[in-house]
Amino acid sequence: SGRRFFVGGNFKMNGNKSSLDDIITNLNTVNSPETDVVVAPSPLYLDYVTNKITSQVKVAAQNCYKAAKGAYTGEVSPAMLSDVGVNWVILGHSERRHVFNESNELIGQKVKHALESGLSVIPCIGEKLDEREAGVTEQVVFEQMTFIKDNVEDWSKVVIAYEPVWAIGTGKTATPGQAQEVHEKLRKWLADNVSDDVSKSTRIIYGGSVNAGNCKELAKGKDIDGFLVGGASLKPEFLDIIKANA
Ligand code: G3H
Repeated sequence: SGRRFFVGGNFKMNGNKSSLDDIITNLNTVNSPETDVVVAPSPLYLDYVTNKITSQVKVAAQNCYKAAKGAYTGEVSPAMLSDVGVNWVILGHSERRHVFNESNELIGQKVKHALESGLSVIPCIGEKLDEREAGVTEQVVFEQMTFIKDNVEDWSKVVIAYEPVWAIGTGKTATPGQAQEVHEKLRKWLADNVSDDVSKSTRIIYGGSVNAGNCKELAKGKDIDGFLVGGASLKPEFLDIIKANA
């Protein structure tokens, strides 16, 4: 496809210095120059991980706010992330949307500000189980995409993560066919709503119970350009997932 394989590890609210040391030791053996590898530890440890990890692996925040600074207790800004050497951010993760009630509008604003601040972004989209069962998966992900698209100028700094909510942390992975089907529709949506070039060049990665056992089959989908991995990114098998397309 010409699109570089991309594997992200989202540690969520897990880890401490000791367990991160083990993960970093493992990641520092990564030798996959053909693949972009990005890991997202808790914001408290971004600086710690950035200072210890090999330059082959980039570091992402799991979230950030839509302003550079100010009276926003508890928030972290893109400017602060850049300051500690973090150049990527995950935005609109399903847990931000559904546990912390982030709206499409807020996520769009965050995407805009993060990009303007020089970060690369991994906006996440995905339908809930009742939405899939009601047959509105496309409608839901296209609406989420609209709020993202309206806030992006430079698509080279965007990697879209499709994560069906029912597959996240449940052990219930989308089948390779189910994942590929949505990825193909998203790519078509990009062609129709942004441009052919952006449709062809933008990475669309899959997330939701990806592990060493299912990653190779999923990676065969022609519109699946990598993964956003939660639980398995904390384990040694993350290295196998990084090599899923080899
Ligand atoms: O960001 C990662 C996704 O939420 C997937 O998490 O691999 O634990 O299902 P999971």
